[in-house]
Amino acid sequence: MRQILKVQISDEKEYLIEISDSDFVKFNQEISEYTKGQKRLIVMSKKVYKLYSDSLLFKDDEIFIFPDGEKEKNYKNYLRIMQRAIELGLTRKDVIIAVGGGVVGDVAGFAASTYMRGIDFIQVPTTILSAVDSSVGGKTAIDYAGNKNVIGTFYQPKKVFININFFGTLDKKQFMSGMGEVIKYALIEDSCKYRVPQFLFEFLTLGYEKIMELEPLTTVRLIEYCLNLKAAVVAQDEKECGLRKILNLGHTLAHALESITKYSKYTHGEAVVYGLFFITAFAYKQEYINYSYFRLINELLEKYGFAPLKQKFSPAEIVKYMQKDKKSTADKITFIIPCDKKQVKEIKLTPYEAECAIKDILWHPIQYKK
Ligand code: GLY
Repeated sequence: MRQILKVQISDEKEYLIEISDSDFVKFNQEISEYTKGQKRLIVMSKKVYKLYSDSLLFKDDEIFIFPDGEKEKNYKNYLRIMQRAIELGLTRKDVIIAVGGGVVGDVAGFAASTYMRGIDFIQVPTTILSAVDSSVGGKTAIDYAGNKNVIGTFYQPKKVFININFFGTLDKKQFMSGMGEVIKYALIEDSCKYRVPQFLFEFLTLGYEKIMELEPLTTVRLIEYCLNLKAAVVAQDEKECGLRKILNLGHTLAHALESITKYSKYTHGEAVVYGLFFITAFAYKQEYINYSYFRLINELLEKYGFAPLKQKFSPAEIVKYMQKDKKSTADKITFIIPCDKKQVKEIKLTPYEAECAIKDILWHPIQYKK
């Protein structure tokens, strides 16, 4: 089974995303065929290397094993990749391939975008989270001096190969982290302005069992629906001047929670889910959405086993971290908020308003009748 999607950034700039359940031998052949005649540097997550190096059949001397974890998204690893590219003698005609989750993709992408001013880059995401989000859209980055993604480029991959067989070895936490981002797409679907309705909200509601058991056809469809939406957004606003900001639904709180806990307590998708609960309750309290939609969103999140944040952090501290976000200015914090069914919009709150909202909502969740 194979689905091909196109990301059309401009008349000259486009690339394909291939979603398949091919066995790894065939998968490897496809990548080899695609990169024929090119020298390759394969930047592969250590975890993926342990699990899949035998099945993937890449040559050992073309692999750079990348340590796992957000703390590894740093300039030292970026320079190590550069060093390896130089040692391998990669030229402008050659290619860097990222095989792993978001961290590997972001750093390898940044390396590809800066090595000799830019060489070909291929993404092979191995988690649901990286498949539906970071592998598509061209954001590359490293963290520096405690600032997430502060150094980076917009650099679109040449191709994205998604093989859903990788998802079979995700642990529950990683699987659910991916589902957090997937649910986000269901809440922004209409604002993405994709030409064909995807009915992702309904698909998530009705397809729950098959999604949870990673049934192949359902999994391919799920990734496809999310990426159709993401590709549509990126095509309209590659550099996040406007529309692309909607992809950050739930992320203002999520990034603050991840930073406060030094990226060691919550997975990204888990933090996004807390952000979704928070911003949905805020939207309801402020009358951006009605009770029935507020309830529907909560029911969907709960169906997938999610619950609002329980641990209490100081609202002032959360706001301090929110102010560091790239999308915030000194006196305004940006939130993407549900404003109608499957629609969202941008609002800006002062730090004081944001602090009040956190005190009011995060620590006093709204109960609704089951
Ligand atoms: N992860 C959000 C974006 O790609 O814009």
